[in-house]
Amino acid sequence: MRILVTGGAGYIGSHTCVELLENGYEVVVVDNLYNASEKSLDRIRQITGKELTFYQADIQDASAMHGIFDKEAVDCVIHFAGLKAVGESVAKPLEYYQNNIAGTLVLCDEMRKHGVKNIIFSSSATVYGDPAFIPITEECPKGTPTNPYGWTKHMIEQILTDFHTADSEWNVILLRYFNPIGAHKSGLIGEDPKGIPNNLLPYVSQVAIGKLSCLGVFGNDYDTHDGTGVRDYIHVVDLARGHVKAIDKLKENPGVKIYNLGTGKGYSVLDVVKAFEKACGHEIAYEIKPRRAGDIATCYSDATLAKKELGWTAEYGIDEMCSDSWRWQSMNPNGYDD
Ligand code: NAD
Ligand code: UD1
Repeated sequence: MRILVTGGAGYIGSHTCVELLENGYEVVVVDNLYNASEKSLDRIRQITGKELTFYQADIQDASAMHGIFDKEAVDCVIHFAGLKAVGESVAKPLEYYQNNIAGTLVLCDEMRKHGVKNIIFSSSATVYGDPAFIPITEECPKGTPTNPYGWTKHMIEQILTDFHTADSEWNVILLRYFNPIGAHKSGLIGEDPKGIPNNLLPYVSQVAIGKLSCLGVFGNDYDTHDGTGVRDYIHVVDLARGHVKAIDKLKENPGVKIYNLGTGKGYSVLDVVKAFEKACGHEIAYEIKPRRAGDIATCYSDATLAKKELGWTAEYGIDEMCSDSWRWQSMNPNGYDD
């Protein structure tokens, strides 16, 4: 089977390409390299000893996408490509709606024209907003996103669901990721954020390596075991494997399916700091700051459905997530830059 992976040079995409190649799939990556380096693709080849096909193209470019679908006999699309910085999306809503939503529409139009009607989409636990209950099952109602990034996930889920309603040949799997962290065991691929990281783990690992001086912990007065925010961190390799399982599911022509990809366990900011200190062998400087706007106290999944229907469960715990993040960070202090 040939899988077209949009955004395949990025953080989650690159780890998924490794798992796909190792499971015997042919991989075609489309990425405009807006937030990625082509070096990640060489590293994928190095890890797997296998080839993949790469097109540097924008999913909004209909003629480029048309040419790619003409040339490659694609069976299924895994759609990672998108802009993902929450704060930036508030400042640049037009760019976010244009890239994420218009890009998805162009992609799907070309899929339809070429008779490809199987798609796995990268959604996010952000669609639950401030969740109605915890642990969050897929039955939990979608909430109101607090930013345009979250709305793009919310809307694209609806758009893909409507495609299936109009044409039952479409199979759509919406994967709602919790908080992906960690890196491949080889230390060759990992998360390489540009500028100052917004998310916790890349910030912590840049403090650990000495690029940043001190972590700001956003609030210690939440109703959690130590007052800091609790999240469901999931190892990116586990997450990547969830996509391979989702392809197996697509082969059953399931229609529309939604799965949480999380571990079902919640860790606080300070739990993560402690686990990272253990991984890197020294203290991480931090100071308590005010709460960050839009944050919630607690968010973790009930991952039962993915286990039952996909046969997938996360294998790695917080210690492996932190030690693998640290290996990537220390082997590549400047990410993919030399
Ligand atoms: P990433 O930025 O590393 O990967 C996204 C990739 O898409 C990048 O390589 C970028 O260059 C590419 N891209 C963006 N717009 C494109 C376009 N118009 N055409 C072609 N390529 C384009 O991000 P990631 O963390 O790997 O996230 C992958 C997906 O998972 C995204 O859709 C993101 O919203 C979603 N997601 C991520 C997280 C997370 O915490 N990382 C959580 C939930 C959901
Ligand atoms: C964020 C996004 C979410 C997105 C997800 C994955 C917000 C409000 N939410 O989730 O929409 O899907 O990333 O990209 O941005 N923290 C600190 N100090 C820091 C950074 C984070 O204390 O420097 C805390 C946060 O307050 C939170 C936890 O660490 O409690 C995790 O934060 P983060 O990694 O940004 O992920 P989320 O906020 O869960």
